Amino acid sequence: MSRFVLGLIVGFILAPVALVAWFYWGHPPVAVADSPLPLERRLTHVALDARIAREAPATAPITADEATLVAGAEIYRLQCAACHGFHSEPSTFGPHMFPGAPPLWERHQHSDVVGVSDDPVGETYWKVANGIRLTGMPSFRMVLSDTQIWQVSLLLSVADKPLPPAALDLLRSQLPTPPPQPAIGAAPRKKP
Ligand code: HEC
Repeated sequence: MSRFVLGLIVGFILAPVALVAWFYWGHPPVAVADSPLPLERRLTHVALDARIAREAPATAPITADEATLVAGAEIYRLQCAACHGFHSEPSTFGPHMFPGAPPLWERHQHSDVVGVSDDPVGETYWKVANGIRLTGMPSFRMVLSDTQIWQVSLLLSVADKPLPPAALDLLRSQLPTPPPQPAIGAAPRKKP
């Protein structure tokens, strides 16, 4: 009986107190360079994979023809390349996020798979539409139309295949440098 009471004290009082103390005075990983918590990636991915398996559409409503791939490349260039990198040119900061933004035009380390071309297109569609919580992956449901989300998802699904030259050109071109912005607090520029 006394062991049972001891168990209750440890379980209900000491464990939460230790957790709170660890948060305040310990060193929970808060920096990108910190190591992940034990099982952190596996636990979050179990929940994500289960949700995607339930909700991802089985087929795409449009085909991956040239027009789709070129439209997808334009969307990718504007909305995705900063984090996931251009074709043959990795993102400067994508690998320094936690979790890192995977390069979507590079081969995996020990296989011929390029980016997410091995994932069902419905899975990529789900991730782009809904985003991945507690990572830097945004939800594009309010940013892109449903067709645009399919266009960019279909493009990524054939990342290991030869692409139409017009799509490749877009995927290789960097965004133009924006004009210099006035310093904060400076008087607004007069319109000509
Ligand atoms: C602000 C940075 C950022 C932007 C912009 C961004 N992503 Fe991501 N994306 C991420 C991060 C970080 C992850 C990794 C999430 C994880 O590990 O669970 C990710 C993951 C993904 C994945 C899953 C990769 C895998 O291996 O399963 C896909 C697919 C994806 N992004 C597609 C896109 C597309 C398409 C766009 C543009 C419409 C986009 N992303 C824009 C940061 C970004």
